[in-house]
Amino acid sequence: MRTREAILPDAERIHELISVHYEAGTLLPRALPEICENIRDFRVVEEHGRIVGCGALHLYGLHLAEVRSIAVDPIFQRRGAGFILVKALLRQAVRHQVGGVCLFTRIPEFFARLGFSAVTREQIPDKLYKDCCVCPKLHSCDEVAMVRGSLPNMAMLPQPSSVLVKLEA
Ligand SMILES: CC(C)(COP(=O)(O)OP(=O)(O)OC[C@H]1O[C@@H](n2cnc3c(N)ncnc32)[C@H](O)[C@@H]1OP(=O)(O)O)[C@@H](O)C(=O)NCCC(=O)NCCS
Repeated sequence: MRTREAILPDAERIHELISVHYEAGTLLPRALPEICENIRDFRVVEEHGRIVGCGALHLYGLHLAEVRSIAVDPIFQRRGAGFILVKALLRQAVRHQVGGVCLFTRIPEFFARLGFSAVTREQIPDKLYKDCCVCPKLHSCDEVAMVRGSLPNMAMLPQPSSVLVKLEA
């Protein structure tokens, strides 16, 4: 198995891989146009030329990146693809000289083995302002926030009062 950067023709397969796990309730949905727009965030893992998994590294800034949309085809699970993918995304974060990498997950044990530690989601304000504040599960989140590397001191995004009001509700 090997990983490579995703290119636009991979978008449909990435969409398919994520959709399987969305239907099973383990991943957030990603629409095909959104995957196309963010295709440069994605890496895929291939075996004999077939894409068997995908994952993305979203860059917030030098202080923080997020690992997201990690999905391995159920037929190819437990053969190392997940670890290969996350390690490749972490190397990418190092290349960009990002200080910390965060993620939200329901399987913290898997990511703990890759050096991530649990934190509170309030410790990752970038994620709160970008995704959580528009998520229907804002007040009933069942995911564990995790960080590898240093925690950002503050969000690098503006703090519109409407977002703060929603978060405090
Ligand atoms: C989580 C997922 C990416 C793992 O992919 P994978 O290719 O099966 O993982 P690997 O084969 O690289 O597993 C590496 C190690 O983690 C363990 N592991 C795999 N899945 C695990 C899970 N769900 N929970 C805990 N540990 C897990 C494996 O047993 C393996 O340990 P070992 O080397 O001692 O046997 C895959 O199961 C998946 O796509 N799940 C659904 C989507 C999802 O939950 N994504 C993460 C959202 S943040």
